[in-house]
Amino acid sequence: ITHTTPYTTLSSIILAGPSGSGKTSLLTLLERGDASAPTHTSQAAHAIELTVSTDGGAPTFREAARDDAPGKHRKFLLVDTPGHGKLRGAALGRLSRGEESKAKRGQGLKGVVFVVDAAALAEDARDAAAYLYDVLLALQRRAGAGKSARRPDAVPVLIAANKNDLFTALPAALVKSALEAELGRIRQSRSKGLLDSGVGIDDIGSEEQDGWVGEYGSEKFSFAQMREFDIDVQVLGGSVLGGKVDKWWDWIAELI
Ligand code: GTP
Ligand code: MG
Repeated sequence: ITHTTPYTTLSSIILAGPSGSGKTSLLTLLERGDASAPTHTSQAAHAIELTVSTDGGAPTFREAARDDAPGKHRKFLLVDTPGHGKLRGAALGRLSRGEESKAKRGQGLKGVVFVVDAAALAEDARDAAAYLYDVLLALQRRAGAGKSARRPDAVPVLIAANKNDLFTALPAALVKSALEAELGRIRQSRSKGLLDSGVGIDDIGSEEQDGWVGEYGSEKFSFAQMREFDIDVQVLGGSVLGGKVDKWWDWIAELI
């Protein structure tokens, strides 16, 4: 890939999510347009340049990715990251604000696609939820906990419930509720040491509040709570192997 445009002038979309969820497969599918390529587990972040045609003349990613697609073309970087537990800093570091503060306004990070294996989630949502908790926390900090009405740095999240070609895969609505329930448990257990120490919830300092994702002090977690920070979270099902990623592509294209 030759980058005809310097990195800092392009919008970027980050692919994050647990190992084996299908991030690299999705990247190769979008890059090649026909089918995904075989993958190995990723050990480093890897970016490719993609094109979105913005006039609606190229409704699918297959057409939009072509150089001769009709309409206006906009380029962006799709950044694949490793999902292994020890390598998640590669994605999380990119979500914090500092790195791109030099980038011009309206450029830089535009969205996060958090890819999950919807069949694996049916068995165990803990690892996916733990990673997602860190992602949401990073984005919440990025948006700023202040009371300002405008949050130009708020970054939306698409939870791509992948592998719905497998009959064991949870439908998107259940992926959503399973993750919300697990995120609530994680939030509870991360604050538990604190609450057990006899400190009332009202006495907790801002430093501790800083580690809390969503509505502070609430019992149940829901993605809707992220709207307080202008962070929109959506869950959409699909399948990289089945080539069913158009809903995800549309979500990305809207942001570019
Ligand atoms: P890490 O690089 O370790 O973080 O994993 P990754 O998220 O990049 O996963 P990768 O794209 O390498 O895919 C892991 C496995 O899932 C591969 O064997 C893919 O073929 C498979 N896979 C990806 N998408 C789908 C899908 O939609 N359905 C099914 N059944 N398998 C898929
Ligand atoms: Mg990978």
